[in-house]
Amino acid sequence: MHVILIACLISLVGSVFADNFQEPLRSPPTSHPRPHRIAVIGAGPGGSATSYYLDKFARSSSLDRRLEVTVFDSNTYIGGRTTTVNALDDPRYPTELGASIFVKINHILYNATRDFGLIPSAKIYQAAPDSKYELGIWDGSSFVFTSATDDDNSSWSGWWDIAKLLWKYGLSPIRTQRATRKAVGSFLEFYNEPLFPFPSIQEAVLSTGLDAYTSVTGKDVLHSAGVGDLFSREIIQASTRVNYASNLGGIHGLETLVCMAIEGAVAVEGGNWQIFEGMVTSSATRLLLNTTVTDVVKDTEHGTFTIQTTNPDINEFLGTEDDAAYDTVVLAAPYQFANITFTPPLANPPSKIPYVSLYVTLFTSPHCLSPSFFGLTEQADVPPSVLTTLHEGLDQDLTSRRGVDAVGPAGFWSISTLRVLRPDTDGTFFGPTSNNSQSTDSQPQYLYKIFSPAPLTGSFLSNLLDFPHTSVEKDDPLSTLSKKDVTWLHEKLWHSYPYESPRSTFENFTLLTTSGDEQERDEGLFYLSGMESFISTMETSALAGMNVAKLIVDQLQSQS
Ligand SMILES: Cc1cc2nc3c(=O)[nH]c(=O)nc-3n(C[C@H](O)[C@H](O)[C@H](O)COP(=O)(O)OP(=O)(O)OC[C@H]3O[C@@H](n4cnc5c(N)ncnc54)[C@H](O)[C@@H]3O)c2cc1C
Ligand SMILES: *[C@@H]1O[C@H](CO)[C@@H](O)[C@H](O)[C@H]1NC(C)=O
Ligand SMILES: *[C@@H]1O[C@H](CO)[C@@H](O)[C@H](O)[C@H]1NC(C)=O
Ligand SMILES: *[C@@H]1O[C@H](CO)[C@@H](O)[C@H](O)[C@H]1NC(C)=O
Ligand SMILES: *[C@@H]1O[C@H](CO)[C@@H](O)[C@H](O)[C@H]1NC(C)=O
Ligand SMILES: *[C@@H]1O[C@H](CO)[C@@H](O)[C@H](O)[C@H]1NC(C)=O
Ligand SMILES: *[C@@H]1O[C@H](CO)[C@@H](O)[C@H](O)[C@H]1NC(C)=O
Repeated sequence: MHVILIACLISLVGSVFADNFQEPLRSPPTSHPRPHRIAVIGAGPGGSATSYYLDKFARSSSLDRRLEVTVFDSNTYIGGRTTTVNALDDPRYPTELGASIFVKINHILYNATRDFGLIPSAKIYQAAPDSKYELGIWDGSSFVFTSATDDDNSSWSGWWDIAKLLWKYGLSPIRTQRATRKAVGSFLEFYNEPLFPFPSIQEAVLSTGLDAYTSVTGKDVLHSAGVGDLFSREIIQASTRVNYASNLGGIHGLETLVCMAIEGAVAVEGGNWQIFEGMVTSSATRLLLNTTVTDVVKDTEHGTFTIQTTNPDINEFLGTEDDAAYDTVVLAAPYQFANITFTPPLANPPSKIPYVSLYVTLFTSPHCLSPSFFGLTEQADVPPSVLTTLHEGLDQDLTSRRGVDAVGPAGFWSISTLRVLRPDTDGTFFGPTSNNSQSTDSQPQYLYKIFSPAPLTGSFLSNLLDFPHTSVEKDDPLSTLSKKDVTWLHEKLWHSYPYESPRSTFENFTLLTTSGDEQERDEGLFYLSGMESFISTMETSALAGMNVAKLIVDQLQSQS
């Protein structure tokens, strides 16, 4: 049944692409006042939520003008850093390449999952190789923590219950949970009146007091909350490393607590991108994929904008419209990577901030993780998923460093065994009397995901999985490994999220051009990605989009 569902979704997406870029998602109604035209640049969580909530808020308002939303994205898909690839190139095995988990307090994502009839799955890791453990935390020489296999639930949702009970850490787990609840409570104020909608992140942060968490490191926040160093280093730091590729000295206090707010962790079956596809296709007037915006040009006389893209066909198409001008432009992607020229130039261009370079390696192999790699002797002692941290002696020195300088002797941030694939039989129904002996002799394939600060090498993988290997090229790339050891491989370098350094100032939602009246606070240019220095998740980008949608609708309403 799942197989069929996934197949349908894929053909649906296929048709959006195939009908090419000019797909009108909605037939234009015939009412008369000129529509208010909005360009949303970026179809990740932020841009998708902008389009979705513009439509929602406009419907529940008394606006006399229709909104017409055009969504642009360079990629050929909706979702941005939320996307799947098919393991073994087989549509039965869609696998998250980017953002994979969201949690119960993520109201926008939870609601949309429900409203679009998508299936949230709590089984984020489904692997059940014959291991005594589900998850281990490794410091590069030994396991400092392992969680036993309970029933069939993921270690992520079970983590708290296990950690809480651990005598090893005394009151620290409870204190962490208390600090997390408090910060989460303040954050939830962002969704409701009187705070929502907030004209700037800065104001929202100050009025909720969350600057007390964002302006200091995770280490400091945990210290003030009375959380012991051992629990911080062995458990919480493992979480900041897998979620944000940072140690506790290199990440702010709020993002640290976000890593511990994991109640109700789920992923959408078949891919989280379906949430964002649902948002765009149910709301946008037009979706232009495979279309990179290069220029946003302001018509200073009319206060409107025209948009140019790398695609000449689209430019021609946009130029032939009756009225090609946009009244509002929303940039829903990090300014520093969007490579858009604004004319006249921006008076307050968002400053360039360092982003994490995260190497994501997805692959399948018939081999299990090797005990000897981890200094163990028994296969059953190897946890199928391994998070990492630093041992005490190194922690002080490396805690605030970045990338390869921060990762320590483990050399990687995390390894997860996502699923055990049996391509010959998965998704096949064997009737009660059928002869399914083939299922027993087909070799299973383990599907792994590794996060690391540098590309993995063939020698690393041959040690990890214990197969013979002689490197043939200088860089020893994974692509030269034998098909029999690595049956499928997908490597991706992401600018995954900013280094979440402590900070107390945040970029504004409004951008100004140098032509603007100095007093004019809103020229119709909006920017979402300042949110990422506060918290970088699918939900917070979507929240920035929902917030800007409300600002736009409120402003139009006050004008009408
Ligand atoms: C490996 C990885 C794991 C992660 N894990 C999680 C997780 O478990 N949970 C979670 O909540 N978050 C996670 N994140 C973070 C999450 O993916 C981001 O916070 C979120 O995607 C940000 O959304 P966005 O819409 O702001 O930006 P993006 O998702 O980056 O979307 C921006 C879009 O704009 C488009 N664009 C950029 N420039 C242009 C242009 N000039 N013209 C047209 N289009 C343009 C891009 O193609 C892109 O599609 C993870 C990220 C990565 C990479
Ligand atoms: C989510 O849904 C609930 C119940 O329908 C609603 O009260 C709430 O406002 C919604 N929140 C968002 C952010 O859409
Ligand atoms: C496992 O997950 C299911 C559904 O998410 C839940 O109902 C059940 O209580 C969980 N079991 C344990 C032991 O956590
Ligand atoms: C994207 O657009 C380019 C032209 O700009 C075209 O050559 C390419 O085939 C398109 N890709 C897809 C997947 O549609
Ligand atoms: C940025 O845009 C300019 C002009 O549009 C182009 O020449 C350049 O190659 C782009 N750079 C990147 C990194 O995409
Ligand atoms: C099942 O199939 C295998 C090989 O196809 C055959 O050797 C075996 O006898 C069959 N068993 C039954 C019960 O039909
Ligand atoms: C951001 O906006 C606020 C109010 O909207 C303003 O006071 C502040 O100066 C702005 N900051 C920048 C850097 O533009």
